Amino acid sequence: MDFKILFVNPMTVVIHLYVLSTVTDANCILPQELRNMEWIYNYTRPDNNQAVTTTLEFQNTILTSPSSISFNAFGTTIDAWTCISNLTLSNTESVVLFKSDVSYTDGPFSGSRRLYLCMKFTKVTDNLFYFYLLSDVDNTIVPNERVFNPPGNSIPADTEPLCSTFCQYSTEPKIRTLQKTGTTDVVPSDAALCTPCENPCEEQVVACQDLDPVNFTTITNQTGTNYQDTITYACITGYKLTSGSLTRQCMANENWSGSIPVCEVVACEDLDPVNFATITAQTGTNYQDTITYACITGYELTSGSLTRQCMANEKWSGSLPVCEVVACQDLDPVNFTTITNQTGTNYQDTITYACITGYELTSGSLTRQCMANESWSGSIPVCEVVACEDLDPVNFATITAQTGTNYQDTITYACITGYELTSGSLTRQCMANENWSGSLPVCEVVACQDLDPVNFATITTQTGTNYQDTITYACITGYELTSGSLTRQCMANENWSGSLPVCEVVACEDLDPVNFATITTQTGTNYQDTITYACNTGYKLTSGSLTRQCMANKNWSGSLPVCRLGHHCQSRRRRWR
Ligand SMILES: *[C@@H]1O[C@H](CO)[C@@H](O)[C@H](O)[C@H]1NC(C)=O
Ligand SMILES: *[C@@H]1O[C@H](CO)[C@@H](O)[C@H](O)[C@H]1NC(C)=O
Ligand SMILES: *[C@@H]1O[C@H](CO)[C@@H](O)[C@H](O)[C@H]1NC(C)=O
Ligand SMILES: *[C@@H]1O[C@H](CO)[C@@H](O)[C@H](O)[C@H]1NC(C)=O
Ligand SMILES: *[C@@H]1O[C@H](CO)[C@@H](O)[C@H](O)[C@H]1NC(C)=O
Ligand SMILES: *[C@@H]1O[C@H](CO)[C@@H](O)[C@H](O)[C@H]1NC(C)=O
Ligand SMILES: *[C@@H]1O[C@H](CO)[C@@H](O)[C@H](O)[C@H]1NC(C)=O
Ligand SMILES: *[C@@H]1O[C@H](CO)[C@@H](O)[C@H](O)[C@H]1NC(C)=O
Ligand SMILES: *[C@@H]1O[C@H](CO)[C@@H](O)[C@H](O)[C@H]1NC(C)=O
Ligand SMILES: *[C@@H]1O[C@H](CO)[C@@H](O)[C@H](O)[C@H]1NC(C)=O
Ligand SMILES: *[C@@H]1O[C@H](CO)[C@@H](O)[C@H](O)[C@H]1NC(C)=O
Repeated sequence: MDFKILFVNPMTVVIHLYVLSTVTDANCILPQELRNMEWIYNYTRPDNNQAVTTTLEFQNTILTSPSSISFNAFGTTIDAWTCISNLTLSNTESVVLFKSDVSYTDGPFSGSRRLYLCMKFTKVTDNLFYFYLLSDVDNTIVPNERVFNPPGNSIPADTEPLCSTFCQYSTEPKIRTLQKTGTTDVVPSDAALCTPCENPCEEQVVACQDLDPVNFTTITNQTGTNYQDTITYACITGYKLTSGSLTRQCMANENWSGSIPVCEVVACEDLDPVNFATITAQTGTNYQDTITYACITGYELTSGSLTRQCMANEKWSGSLPVCEVVACQDLDPVNFTTITNQTGTNYQDTITYACITGYELTSGSLTRQCMANESWSGSIPVCEVVACEDLDPVNFATITAQTGTNYQDTITYACITGYELTSGSLTRQCMANENWSGSLPVCEVVACQDLDPVNFATITTQTGTNYQDTITYACITGYELTSGSLTRQCMANENWSGSLPVCEVVACEDLDPVNFATITTQTGTNYQDTITYACNTGYKLTSGSLTRQCMANKNWSGSLPVCRLGHHCQSRRRRWR
């Protein structure tokens, strides 16, 4: 060995020295995921196989490290490297060439030299890379992991993808890992690692079998059936994965990772019963099944949905239906009624009216009920005033006043003159029951009392004892009216007109004494009384009557007796006879 190699902790490399290049560096693009990140860097030191953990940080094109990472070549610490070239090998693999930021002057070469690091990166995940330091063609240097050394010590052009030609190892190359700080991805123990000289790694011909179609899935992406190809399924709408894997990758063992995905139909939760509703139809509780409700009679939907469908998101479409009781409108007050009972204005509530006193229902309904269609049964009650029937004319009566024939109207009768109420009512009022108060007035003719017999009188004519009937008396013979009335009429006041007739015996005038006569008997001077004379002795009746009787005409029967001396009278009488 004609130059010294210094292993510097932690990034241990075999360092070759190069003549300083004055050529402008090429462009380099680091893998996107590496940039501007701090990485936990694990490797094994080639010289003593000691595991080391430290950190590295990539900027856009610069590799830096905390003070703990540096390259010290013959005493010079190089702790910053700039990427000058890259080569993309595949989706996951690339090679990047770094050039030391400072020159190196020690070693077998004279003058300022730069160091070159050639890294072959493999991306495992966004958070995990591994890389190898590519070998130098000069396999006399052990370990054979180093920056490249172009043949003939010629200085390479910066634009060359320098690393691509250098991949010779005399010993097993050491894998180095980069784990993004704060993440946990690790390289699986059974991972098929790309070794540095496979170029490109993924060209291994590993193929998995075609997969059978999977029920209820669609394939959303398939890159192929070769190693690391993936197939991605999605459960069709309304189905969800219950077991197996939606993404499967062809593994190095030619088996697909994971297992057959099983997509099963989505089910929604059972729905609680809905108040005041019935289920009219239900197909089930799986995706696209529907349940249909109907509010029960008298209830209506106020919010929510009467039909709900099980959706792909395991939820029912719409929202819980709310059935609320139907309410009818308030009713206006009704003329001439009172409300006797009202339970409310909801379905099946009732309102009951009564016509006020004196009014009766002529149309409509006294009880109405709130129906399911929000209207009240029946119709507005119409209460009209009660009317009593017209009254027939009343015999022997006149109507003196009448206000009408409706409730509380009155009619007043008066019996005509000579008639009086014997039963019923002269004033009647129309009552609430459509009957007139009281009863039919009966006017009957007035009757005067029977008259007692009148002394010394006879009844000559009598028409009766009623109003305007007359009774006529006559005093019997020998009697005459001295007071009262011989004719009396029954008056409206039930009294007989006039007054009781009084018939008294007729009296003849006292007779003057008769000359030459004496009264022998005398019973009195009244009717039929007699007076008897006798001519005095010596005297003889020459004319007149010795007995006289008081006659009905108040005259004495006969004539005045005349008594004269007997001889004179005798001779004369004889002579004349
Ligand atoms: C450098 O890397 C970029 C991004 O990965 C890529 O597009 C480009 O082709 C690479 N350069 C070469 C020469 O492979
Ligand atoms: C690096 O080493 C540390 C400490 O041993 C460990 O926790 C971490 O998982 C390792 N990283 C990887 C990618 O193996
Ligand atoms: C796929 O569905 C069909 C028809 O429904 C059925 O016969 C078959 O058993 C199903 N296959 C699997 C693997 O479940
Ligand atoms: C298909 O899958 C591959 C690998 O996971 C991915 O790189 C690619 O972007 C996907 N294609 C689509 C269209 O999603
Ligand atoms: C690949 O799959 C077959 C069938 O499932 C199984 O018998 C075999 O052990 C698997 N191979 C590996 C390396 O896991
Ligand atoms: C109720 O009575 C009032 C006053 O008599 C009248 O103006 C109104 O028209 C009546 N209403 C009905 C519905 O008959
Ligand atoms: C009111 O009407 C309801 C329904 O018809 C009935 O159940 C209740 O007994 C009535 N109340 C009265 C005080 O009449
Ligand atoms: C409400 O229902 C009753 C009985 O079915 C019917 O007679 C009436 O016309 C309905 N009213 C309306 C507004 O539909
Ligand atoms: C009304 O008068 C009629 C006929 O006189 C009678 O039959 C009926 O009972 C009366 N009504 C009442 C409520 O008194
Ligand atoms: C009727 O006669 C009786 C007895 O004579 C008398 O008291 C009464 O006042 C009379 N009535 C009238 C209305 O004249
Ligand atoms: C009664 O006597 C008077 C006087 O003598 C006489 O004028 C009259 O005519 C008599 N009457 C009768 C009815 O005879």
